Amino acid sequence: MHRIHEIKSNFDSDIRNVSTIEQLEELRVKYIGRKGLITTAFTFLKDVEASQKPKFGAELNKAKKEIEAAFGKKKSSLGSTKGSVVKMDVTLPGRKNYLGRKHPLIQVADEIKNIFKSFGFSIEDGPEIETDYYNFEALNIPKSHPARAMQDTLYITEDIVLRTHTSPVQIRVMEERKPPIRIIAPGRVYRRDTPDATHSPFFHQVEGLVVGETVTFADLKGVIQAFAHRMFGKDAKVRFRPSFFPFTEPSAEYDVWFNGKWMEISGCGMVHPNVFKSVGIDPQKYSGYAFGMGIDRVAMLKYNVKDIRLFFENDLRFLSQF
Ligand code: DAH
Repeated sequence: MHRIHEIKSNFDSDIRNVSTIEQLEELRVKYIGRKGLITTAFTFLKDVEASQKPKFGAELNKAKKEIEAAFGKKKSSLGSTKGSVVKMDVTLPGRKNYLGRKHPLIQVADEIKNIFKSFGFSIEDGPEIETDYYNFEALNIPKSHPARAMQDTLYITEDIVLRTHTSPVQIRVMEERKPPIRIIAPGRVYRRDTPDATHSPFFHQVEGLVVGETVTFADLKGVIQAFAHRMFGKDAKVRFRPSFFPFTEPSAEYDVWFNGKWMEISGCGMVHPNVFKSVGIDPQKYSGYAFGMGIDRVAMLKYNVKDIRLFFENDLRFLSQF
């Protein structure tokens, strides 16, 4: 009898010191496990004097019940994950579902598309795996032409390339329909470039093409200026510099001034008569302008990103800022 009280009072102090589920389990084994102190005490029952047996048995059962109840209470206060009672702190902020978003380059491409759509341009698409003919030949860049060296091409076969620019879409569109034409063609392009802060072996361009009976270089400048204002705000400036491209004459490049710096955005010019000839459009009757804008460049300027590779590493710490 005395022994039962001793076990019980030891248990009472033991359980007060328990702070983990693991400790509680140890204690359970110690007291009411198969060889636990209470369990083995039952085996002494047979040695107890007959007159004392009922009292001893009742004491033992009472101690066992109390101990089991104490275990139950402690277990729920510790927040057992195995048991049915889960402890939760209702004052903690809820766990939010991760919300995805568009990649910054897609956001910028969408913005560019919306601006040109509002100017009356339609949106075209073309293959990224392109033939030599569309990527070069029809754009007035014959096989021997030194201009091919301007673009480090990734060849699949001698006649099939990963397109080095979006300009082949000009040819595909002009083969299919006659002027007036007013399109843009955004997409991915490829070059054999070693990646650095301003180069990536793939990047993004938006081609623009406008063909009609009275299209002039002034129209090109006006559209580019209007685009820059919509994209970068009223303070953005545009400057044109003379340049060379085989598929335009005259040719130019333009830079946009924004956030205190100039950034080269695009090549452009008046569609070369040889390009019109290759698609059966009469260069005497029609004129046109074209441009090929770097989407990544626009995004770098707009968001002040200094390394193009950041767009392609897919690090969420970078991407979630947009
Ligand atoms: N395709 C040229 C490039 O990737 C860019 C370009 C220049 C496109 C002049 C044009 C253009 O449409 O008229 O370097």
